[in-house]
Amino acid sequence: MTDKAIYVRSMFDRIAPRYDLMNAVMTFGQHQNMRRAAARLAQPPRHGRALDLATGTGDFAAALRDVEPTCRVVGLDFALEMMRLGQQKYRCGVSFTAGDMLQLPFPNYQFDCIVNGFVLRNVTDVRAAFAEMCRVLKPGGRAVSLEITTPRTPIWKNVFGIYFDHVMPRIGGWLSGQPEAYRYLPQSVRDFLAPEAIADLMRAVGFRGVYFRRWALGSMAVYVGVKPDKMTGGF
Ligand SMILES: C[S@@+](CC[C@H](N)C(=O)[O-])C[C@H]1O[C@@H](n2cnc3c(N)ncnc32)[C@H](O)[C@@H]1O
Repeated sequence: MTDKAIYVRSMFDRIAPRYDLMNAVMTFGQHQNMRRAAARLAQPPRHGRALDLATGTGDFAAALRDVEPTCRVVGLDFALEMMRLGQQKYRCGVSFTAGDMLQLPFPNYQFDCIVNGFVLRNVTDVRAAFAEMCRVLKPGGRAVSLEITTPRTPIWKNVFGIYFDHVMPRIGGWLSGQPEAYRYLPQSVRDFLAPEAIADLMRAVGFRGVYFRRWALGSMAVYVGVKPDKMTGGF
């Protein structure tokens, strides 16, 4: 595991007790609506099998279950403390498993759809993350990623910048007792790839029909791709 992965895992284990509260505060209560809207784009089929990568405390996995209650959902993460809290919240309908999303512990062609929320900027190799998703998806299966991004509209970009770079780290540091984690968050968004580059990486590993949409005044982006029936050069 790389230094960044070790840092990220231990940070999430430390902030786990306040993670859900901080999400609600930071998004003005909108975070669950966004996960549910993204889960609908994944189109979980009846009695299908779905995977939530970097599940954390399980909210995106639960959103998939809300969208399609007959679907069996697996949540995977490497921060055990986050998943322990998720297991307490969602006692049935979601099974949690420990693992690294860059080396998924599943054979090829296992899942009808895969979602992941707020993790791409935390991984060391975004292309490898998409390649693993593509590998374990069934042909025709969908991958949906939700991630924070920097708005483009100049006025909103400034307002967002003030809130996200100055106000939110103070509130987050104060509420969580982990100020470093909430300085890392805006930095990781600033350092991350543009949405167009992320969509290109999805295409590069074989996804088809790739598109992204900006939500929440451009501060979130949702990415969608479909695994083709026939892949050239692999799974
Ligand atoms: C910001 S949280 C998002 C949690 C959840 N997806 C949500 O919607 O609230 C990021 C999560 O990604 C996990 N994570 C980061 N890199 C990972 C990796 N390589 N493999 C598995 N989990 C990872 C962290 O442990 C953390 O729980």
